[in-house]
Amino acid sequence: MTSIIKISNLKKSYENGNIKALNGIDLEIDEGDFVSIIGQSGSGKTTLLNMIGALDIGDEGSVEVAGYNLNKTKRLNDFRSKKIGFVFQLHNLIPNLSVVENVEIPLYARKMSGEKRKKKALNLLDLVGLKDKAKIKPTRLSGGERQRVAIARALVNEPSIILADEPTGSLDSQTSNDILKLLIDLHEKENVTLIIVTHDLNISKLANRQIEVLDGKITNFK
Ligand SMILES: Nc1ncnc2c1ncn2[C@@H]1O[C@H](COP(=O)(O)OP(=O)(O)OP(=O)(O)O)[C@@H](O)[C@H]1O
Ligand SMILES: [Mg+2]
Repeated sequence: MTSIIKISNLKKSYENGNIKALNGIDLEIDEGDFVSIIGQSGSGKTTLLNMIGALDIGDEGSVEVAGYNLNKTKRLNDFRSKKIGFVFQLHNLIPNLSVVENVEIPLYARKMSGEKRKKKALNLLDLVGLKDKAKIKPTRLSGGERQRVAIARALVNEPSIILADEPTGSLDSQTSNDILKLLIDLHEKENVTLIIVTHDLNISKLANRQIEVLDGKITNFK
C-alpha cells in the first residue's frame, strides 16, 4: 500500500500558543483507505482536517498529501482543486448563489467552459437526488438537503481524498444513512480515500481504521 497522507510531528497553536490545538500528530493513511476520526469536542479534529486539506498550515512538523508537500508547495490552489473534496462541519453554502452554482464553485479553478461546468454540477446533484432543486437558493432547503449539496460540491472535482467533518451531525437517521452510503459507495467504487470525523460510534465502526484524537494528539488506533 502506498500512503497518500504522511504527517509527522504536526503542531498548531492559537492565541499566542495558549491553545495547543494540535500537539504533535504523527499519522499515515493509505491510498483508498476509509478512516474515521473520533474525539471529544475541542480535541483538534477539525484543525487536523483543515491541515490535510491545506485550508490552514501548521506551526511545526510536516504534512504530505497526494504527493504535495504542503509546507513547501506554491501550488496550494492546484492541490485543493484537484485532490481534495471538503464537506465542512457547517455546510458553508453561499446563500445568494443557486444550488447548482454552489456545486460549481470548486470547478472555477479549472479551465472549463461554463456550460461544461454546469453539466458536471448537475450530474452530481442528480447523484445526491437534488437535480430538481438546482435553480433555487440553498436557504430554501432543509438541513439534510443542504448537506447533500455540500457533498455534491465536494465531489464535483473528482477528488482523490474526501474530508468530511461531521457530515451527518445535524441529520435524522434516514438522511444520515443515505449520506453515508453515498460517501462509502465512492470510497468502494472509485477508490477514493475517505476520512470522516464523527461523534457517532456506529458510523466510526464502519471505517477500516479508527483514530481517536485527545488534546491535539492521537491516542488510539484501531
Ligand atoms: N481559529 C481559532 N482560533 C482560536 N482557537 C481555535 C481556533 N480554531 C480552533 N481553536 C481551538 O482549538 C482547539 C481545537 O479545535 P477544533 O475545532 O479542532 O476541535 P474539534 O475536535 O473539531 O471540536 P468539535 O468536535 O467541537 O468540532 C479548541 O480548543 C478550539 O477552541
Ligand atoms: Mg470540529
